[in-house]
Amino acid sequence: MSDVNWNEMYSRLAAEMKPSPIREMRKYTIKPGMISFAGGNPDPYIFPVPEFAAGAIVLGRNGMEIMQYGATEGYAPLREFISKWMAPRMGRETSMDEILITTGSQQGMDLLTAALINPGDAVIVEDPTYPGAIHTMRNRGAAFITVPCDSDGINTDLLPEAIETATGAGARIKFIYSIVNFQNPTGGTLSTERRKKLLEIAERYDLIIFEDDPYGHLRYEGEHEPTLFSMDKGGRVVYACSFSKILAPGTRVAWIVGAPEIIRRMVMIKQGTDMCTSVIAQALVTQYCTDGYLESFLPKIVSHYSVKCRAMMDAFAKHLPSDAQYTPPKGGFFFWVRIPGIDSQQLFMKGIEKGVAFVNGPAFYANGGGTDCLRTCFTYAQPSELEEGARRLAEAIEDLRAGR
Ligand SMILES: Cc1ncc(COP(=O)(O)O)c(C=O)c1O
Repeated sequence: MSDVNWNEMYSRLAAEMKPSPIREMRKYTIKPGMISFAGGNPDPYIFPVPEFAAGAIVLGRNGMEIMQYGATEGYAPLREFISKWMAPRMGRETSMDEILITTGSQQGMDLLTAALINPGDAVIVEDPTYPGAIHTMRNRGAAFITVPCDSDGINTDLLPEAIETATGAGARIKFIYSIVNFQNPTGGTLSTERRKKLLEIAERYDLIIFEDDPYGHLRYEGEHEPTLFSMDKGGRVVYACSFSKILAPGTRVAWIVGAPEIIRRMVMIKQGTDMCTSVIAQALVTQYCTDGYLESFLPKIVSHYSVKCRAMMDAFAKHLPSDAQYTPPKGGFFFWVRIPGIDSQQLFMKGIEKGVAFVNGPAFYANGGGTDCLRTCFTYAQPSELEEGARRLAEAIEDLRAGR
């Protein structure tokens, strides 16, 4: 115990801080026998452990460099690899002053928010959206303007009115945050048509677009959509991607790409945050990528996860009540399910009793909503658990509806 009255000491931010709903859930999901559809975790059984471990050779070879502090901008060989490897998606090879390596995409999001948001400034977010983004942006004092999204992404028809109403009420909007591919949580992907409209709207109202794309490489059917970054003529798109879902989240290595001006500002903020992302982690990732393992691993996870996606779909079709609504995603990690009339918080507790965990809807709404919705992740659970988890979920719904 401490003698300090900490409540008197806290900043306003810390005093008002609420724990991350998903991180808090870990205490339930790690219970023995629990089937977890909760966290957005990759399948640990498919991590390329031997290939990644082989990269440790770089420690012996370049230890004097990579055990030292590194450049805040990131490990040059990694930035060069990303620039070349991502060129087909980005429309060109991005230059070194356009790329910053971050400690997870989560940090990229935080740095961008810090660079653009004064407390009270507004961000337009999809309704629903990734809770980690709500958390980070709220930490920096952002206010949220929410715009509904569906299986084709953010509803661009509703954007101009949302912008004008908020601006008319005095809001200073800085950027639009969009998870463009296989959105977290809805699984939706921004259509080509809406991509064009989104760019037009951003230009018309002079807004930045933050294109968050951790799931873009994980497409299980159909063709890739062009990135907003590649379609943008005005340098107003800042693009983020990560090794978390396509290699391993334990690397905490990600990157963010944008105009040199904004990248420079983020570098300065990062200098005062962690100085640089672990050079050792970056060097291991670089070795893995330049040895060609990433290229061979991607098709492997795409086929592995598409089988799991199908298995969750089949299990839901078999077990969930007929009024449950969900659209099978074409990629990514998640199903978004609506169970009319159900309180997802009560369902969560009932699910825990039955041995299945998910994330309940309200966690994904910046300004409230989603009480009858839930998100299930299909990548982490093992194939046999996908069906059993769906059966337990259905049982929890049935019990709740019967008042048991
Ligand atoms: C949409 C979205 N953005 C960013 C992140 C953070 O990823 P990272 O592990 O790279 O910090 C996640 C993680 O689940 C996510 O779903």
